[in-house]
Amino acid sequence: MRQQFVAGNWKMHGSLASNAALLAEVLAGVGTARCEVAICVPYPYLSQVQQLLQTSQVALGAQDCSVHQSGAHTGEVSVSMLQDFGCRYVIVGHSERRADHHESDVLVAAKAERALEAGMTPIVCVGETLAERESGLTRAVVLRQLLAVTHLLREQTSRIVVAYEPVWAIGTGRTATPEQAQEVHAVLREHLRTVSEAAAGVRILYGGSVKPDNAAVLFSQADIDGGLIGGASLKAADFLAIAAATR
Ligand code: G3P
Repeated sequence: MRQQFVAGNWKMHGSLASNAALLAEVLAGVGTARCEVAICVPYPYLSQVQQLLQTSQVALGAQDCSVHQSGAHTGEVSVSMLQDFGCRYVIVGHSERRADHHESDVLVAAKAERALEAGMTPIVCVGETLAERESGLTRAVVLRQLLAVTHLLREQTSRIVVAYEPVWAIGTGRTATPEQAQEVHAVLREHLRTVSEAAAGVRILYGGSVKPDNAAVLFSQADIDGGLIGGASLKAADFLAIAAATR
């Protein structure tokens, strides 16, 4: 049985003061969670959050990484720099980065490989746009995105986490129904099984308007192993309620 996993993605939110207040509330309540918990924060706050999390079971994560190991790449952050701050997870291929920075499937796969090389776990995001869903392309899109990763990683695929995040559900309040989410998770799991039985055991998170009132029914689905949480991770009570909703 896969341990369920809830990861917060703060996106471009936070301040030293608000981070301290949020994490004080989260850490006061997260000890009773059955699931694994991580928080993925903006780069400037890695040091502060590393310190705040150090006596807890909550893992630190980043929201991206460079595909380069080091060098003349202004503004980039390497996986070895993330290691300096004790990052255990790194989100790669988030739809907002695929859109804002034109990140290709090949680039996302290479970033996942960099993370594994540094001993971190990439949370590989896949997901279709509303137009793609309405055109019946959901399966083709998410498989294309995942195949780029499994083709590169091969047996190392068993070390990743996947997050299915329908773009049309992110930040919109329009959550995928449990049936819609389970259907895509099952497609992803079926592909992972073609890589290896170990890869079939990879945790697949759902992301896209997960809230306290929909988390339990989503997390009860056979192939949904937890959530990647955006807006609700910025509210301690909501984030704790979502973590408490895991099975
Ligand atoms: O990475 C998680 C994020 O994309 C989901 O955002 O606000 O819909 O929970 P939100």
